[in-house]
Amino acid sequence: MAKGKMTSVFFCQSCGYESAKWTGQCPACKAWNTMVEEIVDRSELKGSQGARKGSTSEPCILSEVTIREQDKVLTGIGELDRVLGGGIVQGSLTLVGGDPGIGKSTLLLQVCQKVSAAGHKVLYVSGEESQVQIKMRADRIGPFSKDMFLLCETSLDAITEVIRRQKPEVVVIDSIQTMYSENVSSAPGSVSQVREATATLLQLAKGLLVSVFIVGHVTKEGTVAGPRVLEHMVDTVLYFEGDRHASYRVLRGVKNRFGSTNEIGVFEMRETGLVEVQNPSEYMLSGRPENASGSVVTCSMEGTRPVLLEIQGLVCHSSFGIPRRQTTGTDFNRVNLLMAVLEKRSGVQLSGCDAYVNVTGGLKVTEPAIDLAIVLAIVSSFRNQALPAKLIAFGEVGLSGEVRSVSQASQRIAEAEKLGFDTCLVPKSNLSEALKDKAGKMKVVGIATVSDALEFLGSR
Ligand code: TYD
Ligand code: MG
Repeated sequence: MAKGKMTSVFFCQSCGYESAKWTGQCPACKAWNTMVEEIVDRSELKGSQGARKGSTSEPCILSEVTIREQDKVLTGIGELDRVLGGGIVQGSLTLVGGDPGIGKSTLLLQVCQKVSAAGHKVLYVSGEESQVQIKMRADRIGPFSKDMFLLCETSLDAITEVIRRQKPEVVVIDSIQTMYSENVSSAPGSVSQVREATATLLQLAKGLLVSVFIVGHVTKEGTVAGPRVLEHMVDTVLYFEGDRHASYRVLRGVKNRFGSTNEIGVFEMRETGLVEVQNPSEYMLSGRPENASGSVVTCSMEGTRPVLLEIQGLVCHSSFGIPRRQTTGTDFNRVNLLMAVLEKRSGVQLSGCDAYVNVTGGLKVTEPAIDLAIVLAIVSSFRNQALPAKLIAFGEVGLSGEVRSVSQASQRIAEAEKLGFDTCLVPKSNLSEALKDKAGKMKVVGIATVSDALEFLGSR
């Protein structure tokens, strides 16, 4: 390999920020100890990741471009098809990220199984497992058709060659951190290797119209570059969430050039691979304690779908000068803010109390519509007073203690009704919309301020 100008560059393993000097904290993503030195060859990097020379492109008239529905391949896994925006788009590049062991390889092998069974040619490239290991996993999942091909390879040049020769419709690269390009001198898993590999795959995908899935491990140790460094290059980014030790998995779309983002798919890991969870609300609420203080059900919109969740609060007297606050599944600062609102606007004395807030089910919820439920969970635990079991609450809480309207109130109420809830606390400004197409026995109560909500509870 003839090398041109070799330079030493520091890359952030978390976000890919490039710097000439080492720094303890990444100036871009503020992560600590993620800057790693890599020796790069400037002349070659520009050649492969920049624009290709010699290609002639013709502009076309936008209104004359046709979209054909058959350009999308259905995976046959409903939860995944919805997250993808209605199937796999021809020539798209999709990144599937998540912690090691969460089920990325399993899901993609299942996709390969379904897509190849429908008569599409599929190539699964593994740089991590041997043919026998993959076969063992495949046996748990089920039979595979003759259109499913397997390649255990880490050299990008060899993979490119196979793709050009075999012309599969769908390619899975498991994982991008094991792929190695001769063009870049740094080790596999480094920021420049990962970027180079993705750039090559991007060109292949767009050039040959193959749909490519890339698996990217998220690592906390920073030994390999995280998938975030290539988020901007791909069309679709899906992340697997959930506890590796629990059986449920949530697949969340965080970027999608072909559909709406923030759509989620819920799966359960079983003996025979991942199984779709058709009714996530029921799943998230299973095992809910009865008549326990600090437990409130709320409804969050996950993409286009309403999902019921249980919010748990635990408030107890603090034995230390500075009370302890902890949250799981929701924003820590938001909970602190809501506690301050409770103290200032409703006179609930929380400053000497430890508080813990937990969203059960392993989902991470950032929607402000769950504010009212967090407030109620905290107060319910503080007063040691259980809320009615069939009550749900949603609404955004503002700094003046006002409960503000949320989107799609009637959809949320309908979901609660479906699961047998009978009382719904909604923002007062949503009341007319909520009552408009109310059919069943649901009692809908409009709440204007946090104090109103507390009064409603006290009056029971
Ligand atoms: P895997 O797909 O290998 O994870 P990743 O590719 O994200 O690292 O996840 C495998 C985990 O799932 C492993 O702990 C075993 C478990 N598993 C099952 O429970 N059932 C199955 O049918 C399969 C294939 C795996
Ligand atoms: Mg894997």
